[in-house]
Amino acid sequence: MSLADIPPFFLAWLRNPRSIAAVAPSGARVADLMTQDINAATGPVLELGPGTGSFTYSLLRRGVRESDLTLVEFSADFVELLKKRFPRAHVLKMDATRLGDIALFDRATTGAVVSGLGFRAMQPQQHAAILAGAFKHLRPGGAFYQITYGPRCPVPTSVLGQLKLVSAFVGRTLWNVPPASVYRIERCNER
Ligand SMILES: C[S@@+](CC[C@H](N)C(=O)[O-])C[C@H]1O[C@@H](n2cnc3c(N)ncnc32)[C@H](O)[C@@H]1O
Repeated sequence: MSLADIPPFFLAWLRNPRSIAAVAPSGARVADLMTQDINAATGPVLELGPGTGSFTYSLLRRGVRESDLTLVEFSADFVELLKKRFPRAHVLKMDATRLGDIALFDRATTGAVVSGLGFRAMQPQQHAAILAGAFKHLRPGGAFYQITYGPRCPVPTSVLGQLKLVSAFVGRTLWNVPPASVYRIERCNER
């Protein structure tokens, strides 16, 4: 995270605290946790709510090709910044709940989804739409990584069950503002 990203991020949070969900961009420790299972062999990666790009930079450090990144963000200011910072990535200005309506690649080839979305401020119908859309693009064996500032997986068990998904705790770091945890969500039949 660049210190220069803190003021614009904080201003975005003041304007829209529910959707921005954090007062500062994620730090390096939680970015490492979010991306620890991802490498060059993962192939295309879909990132939801990239903001100023904390996880995006971490994905590139892991060896993901910039042209293999699709970044889904609905803040116009962040979209412009992301296009400048990651000119070879596919930056989509859209609501992540509409993921199921778009075609990203010919087939489900995405190896991982990395989500910085504020799931705790969303309704179960929004969780269900985002997860159903994401898993439409994820290839078999692919996983969805979700950050949270709360004490448990932010997706209700009922939504996971309805979509035949299961979550597992990846790790937690206190070295973030606020302290954060990461969960991995996978298809039940692939555990
Ligand atoms: C907590 S911030 C995380 C930013 C960045 N990933 C990080 O960790 O520093 C949440 C981001 O998700 C975006 N966002 C929130 N709801 C969204 C939605 N429904 N569709 C797309 N982006 C959304 C916000 O604009 C913001 O950039």
